[in-house]
Order: sequence, then structure tokens, then C-alpha cells
Amino acid sequence: MKVNANPLHTIEKALKLPPAVRAQAYATATASANTAPTCTVPPPWRPSNVLDDWVARESRPISLRQLSFFGRTLTEPRLLESANYVRLELPTRIAHRLRNMQTLPYTALTNEHISHCYELYYGAFERFRKVPEVRNLDDNDKYCKVLKQTLNEHLSVIPRLAMGVLEIQDTIGPDQSDLLMKTLLRSRISRRVIAEQHLALTETFHSPWHFPTAKKPPSSPEDEFVGEIFLKCNAKEIIEKCAATATALAAKAYGPDVAIPNIVLQGHLDTTFPYIPSHIEYIIGELLRNSIQAVIEQRGLAKPPPIEVLICEAAQHIIIRISDQGGGIDRSVLPYLWSFAKGPRRHRRLENLATVPRLKATMQELQPDAAQQHSSGEKYGSSLSSLSSRPPELRLGMGLPMSKIYAEYWAGSLELHSLEGYGCDAFLQISRLGNKNEVLTTRASMDA
Ligand code: COI
Repeated sequence: MKVNANPLHTIEKALKLPPAVRAQAYATATASANTAPTCTVPPPWRPSNVLDDWVARESRPISLRQLSFFGRTLTEPRLLESANYVRLELPTRIAHRLRNMQTLPYTALTNEHISHCYELYYGAFERFRKVPEVRNLDDNDKYCKVLKQTLNEHLSVIPRLAMGVLEIQDTIGPDQSDLLMKTLLRSRISRRVIAEQHLALTETFHSPWHFPTAKKPPSSPEDEFVGEIFLKCNAKEIIEKCAATATALAAKAYGPDVAIPNIVLQGHLDTTFPYIPSHIEYIIGELLRNSIQAVIEQRGLAKPPPIEVLICEAAQHIIIRISDQGGGIDRSVLPYLWSFAKGPRRHRRLENLATVPRLKATMQELQPDAAQQHSSGEKYGSSLSSLSSRPPELRLGMGLPMSKIYAEYWAGSLELHSLEGYGCDAFLQISRLGNKNEVLTTRASMDA
């Protein structure tokens, strides 16, 4: 479907028009844009003075180390301080993204998926900005309810955004579509991190073992958690857990006659580092799933060669290398590995995405009450949501680009080297000290 350039270039222009003219302009724009199936209801434009005030504020990025030091000695004033940080930070971060979206061409913003997300974000912005200062624990409980409800409502954001950027790339070009998706996703992770961290701290504060007078169970996993952050993520345990889930999924998808490659670990097997388990599990789960799939599809029923995972602990970083002999990556796909918008099979991806109304991209999204999971003694999630919440054969084209965003979020990196005809080496690098700020900006220019 070809979408023509729109005579109304930006929402800013539309905002300056009186309602009757705007409606006429909208009708003309949608008619000329040939977007009938996706461009249905004009988004309700709103005056942007309030938004301007919030856009003028700068976000205050934080590091894993700051988050964990802050939450380690949890007192009531600290919990309230955390609530008020989140209370001001969420509308600020959303306001910046709303402003990005408002600068999209008219036909892009009126795409049904993009405008669905814009509406959700505007609703959340309005709700969050009106929350009064959190002065006591009752206020905090009310605020936590608002947070939980909004987190839940936003589960539809990822598949809708992914469909939106695939559909609007004829209007804004694939590079801008990609930039938009990456900017919005990174920002979404950042908002969910601070919201979920505050919810988890609140849960900890109310739990029986929090008070110094209470007797703690000996070496309980709660000692190692500060909110959502697990101070001693063990690389080996995480890889084994992801391997078990990815293997079980492959067995289900390919049936009992297909041999599944073993996953062999080597290197510094005792390595631990502070991290948010759901983030690392997402990345490793996706990488292993890709490797298993490649090996099975390349080798068929024959005895498959193992997938080798090497853990390397350096002074500043942990490096995890995943090597498979799955034949490498097709040359036609290689240039688009990290892209949400570019590459072949766009229509197939759109069809697949349409079957996933809510995508659970992290552990918390599967189990919003993550603290419950900690208190039940689980160090890591009881299942891998990104992998298990959708059929394994469903290819959304999002696993690798999304994993890269997660890896870079805490100042790490993800690279992939394809050895044509032989296999692939994926290199995941994690900052070991947790002292790097969350990376809120996307290279290029979209961020404020
Ligand atoms: C999102 O999940 O899309 C968010 O913006 C998070 C926010 C509701 C806390």
C-alpha cells in the first residue's frame, strides 16, 4: 500500500487551524493519503501549553548502583522520596515522547496504531501530572494503584508501535521509523524501570522482614534484591534457566522427532553482577531461541552440534558469547538485523504482530507483582515471559533489535558476527559495576 506525502506536514500546523478548517484538512489529508484501512478517527488534538512546561524539564537518569544504594536502607522518608521522584519523572519522560510524536507528519500520527499509543501516552501523562505530592504512606498506596493500573493498560504498546512503524515507513522513511521505535522503546523501558522499582520498594517496605526487629530467614533471596535489582545475578544460573525454557519451547514447536542442540557452558561460571533479571533474561532467552532455531533448521533431524556459551569476567565488564553452528545469517537479512522497520517479509511481520494484542516483553509484565516472586524464594522469574507468552514459531522480527535496546540500556552492548555457511557468534557485554546511567537517548536526533 503506497501512502502519499501529506499536504499537512506536522501536527503543529494542524494545531493552529480552527476546528472546522482542521476537520476539512483532515478529510483532505486522509483522502489523498490513501490510508483508508488504518487512518480512521482523527486524534483529539489538545492545547500543548501544559505539555510545553513538562517538555521544558530535563529527565534525571539514574544508574543501577544509585537505584540499589537508594533502596538498600529503606525508611519511610526514603520511600516517599522515591514516590516523588517517580511522580515528577514519569510525566517529564512521557512529555518528551509526546512531543516527538507531535512532530510526525499528519498521516503518520493518524495511523491507527501510532495514534492508539499517542492516546495511551496522553492519557497517562494527564493522569500522572495531576498526582499531588506524596506526603505519607496512604498517598503512596494511592499512587501505587495508579502506577499498577497504567502499567497494565500499556501492555498493548509494543505490538501496536511495531505495527505502526512498519505501516508508516512509506510516509516517514524506514530510518525515521526505526529511530522513532527505538526512541519510544528506550523511553518506555526507562519509565517501566522507575515505576516498577518504586512498586517493588513499596512491597519490600510493607513486607514482614523489612523491619529491623523482624527475624529474617537465613540468607533469603530478599537480602540480594533491592526492589527489582538483583545484586548477585549469576550468569551461569541465568543462562541455564533461559536454556531450559528455550529448549522446552523448541521441543514443543518441532515435535519429539527433532533433536535439540545441547547448550554447553564454559568460562567464569561463578560470575555475578547487579542487574534487573527480566532484562538479561529477555536478551539471553532471545539469543538462545535464535541459535536453537537456526541449528535445527540447518541440520534437520541429524544429531545437532552444541551451542557453546562462554562467560568471561573482565574488570569492568562481563562478556557472554553465544556460538552456534546454525549456518550463519542469510545475506539478504544481515543488513536489517537490528531494524524494526526495514527488511524483507514486512507483510508477514505485520500479520504476525496482529495476532499478539499484548506483548509481555519483560518478566514484570507477566508477573506485575514481582515482589511476590521474590518473597516466594525465586531469584529469577518462574518463567521467561518473552519466550513463553507467544507461540515459538511466531516471528515478529523484534527479538534482536529489542535485545540490543535492553543491552544498551544499562550501557552494555550486543553484537552479532555471522560466519557465512557455518554459524553465528553473539557477543553480549554487560557493565559489571552497575555504575553507568541508564541510556535515555538514541543516537541521532530524536531525543529531548
Ligand atoms: C509504558 O509501559 O508504555 C509506560 O509508559 C510506562 C508507564 C505507564 C509507567
